[in-house]
Amino acid sequence: MGYNVFITRKIPEIGLGILRENCEIVEVNYEDRVLIKEELIRKVVGRDGILCLLTDKIDEDVIKAANGAVGFSNYAVGCDNIDVASATKYGMMITNTPGVLTDATTDLTWALLFSVSRQIVEADRFVRNGRFKSWLPVGFLGADITGKTLGIIGAGRIGTAMALRSKSFRMNVLYYDIKENETLEKELNAQYVDLETLLKESDFISIHTPLTEETYHLISAKELAMMKQTVILINTSRGAVIDEAELLKTLREKKIAGAGLDVYENEPQITEGLMELKNVVLLPHIGSATIETRNKMAIMAAENLVTMLRGQIPHNLVNPDVLKHSKR
Ligand code: DGY
Repeated sequence: MGYNVFITRKIPEIGLGILRENCEIVEVNYEDRVLIKEELIRKVVGRDGILCLLTDKIDEDVIKAANGAVGFSNYAVGCDNIDVASATKYGMMITNTPGVLTDATTDLTWALLFSVSRQIVEADRFVRNGRFKSWLPVGFLGADITGKTLGIIGAGRIGTAMALRSKSFRMNVLYYDIKENETLEKELNAQYVDLETLLKESDFISIHTPLTEETYHLISAKELAMMKQTVILINTSRGAVIDEAELLKTLREKKIAGAGLDVYENEPQITEGLMELKNVVLLPHIGSATIETRNKMAIMAAENLVTMLRGQIPHNLVNPDVLKHSKR
């Protein structure tokens, strides 16, 4: 007890409850907005630990300001918002929330894939605008999904779950990753291919890589040009894996059939022009947004923080190297 923690924005009550039971001071930013850097720096000073969000840029300045804290518990699985190397250098633990959001994010990815391929959003608008006058013999013609080829870029937890759900659609699965995935090969007879093969042969491409230096703009002009003109590209991982300006150009020129995006290169900004396109479905980063999943994420993030405050090693430690340098 006696711990003083800061939560950068309101998370589900169940997680806050865990922190209140275990800490003396729990300050939550209840304003419904992301704190700017100066505010964040002021708020982390003198804390024993911080629970942050993927929208908080935890750079070296913020880490230095939090000097004395055990670390940052990220309420997300992706940690590209945190300068993990700096945190390690300053002896701070970083944790994330893996596993609990796999199903919700995968379900949303499928929802996007269906929405784009069957023009669900456009069709809904059509009905609401009072334009549905009769059954349309050649209107809203989408693309079949069953029996087609699904390309998975990044076969980790979510990529694997995405591929496994394709079984009932009798899809042929190709995947690209840094390592082979036995589950996908056994369960689906999926083929491990290079990126070029995946891009050229897939009817649907779904991206599930974390954002790292290696995956930044993994999909740019050259890669987009390799895709089939009928392909539908889905991204629920991180926006900057795709070069959004090049994607816009490709979509405008109808060089690919469509895209479904839940994430953006400069979130929450959307590249100008994307919103005018009919062959795109745009969501506000809601992959993990179900009541059950956000509760699980809140519990996990709170428990990660409490564990590190107690001087123990959290299960979801992202930077185990910190233990080598730690003076604690
Ligand atoms: C994550 O946890 O990284 C997700 O993007 C949140 O939905």
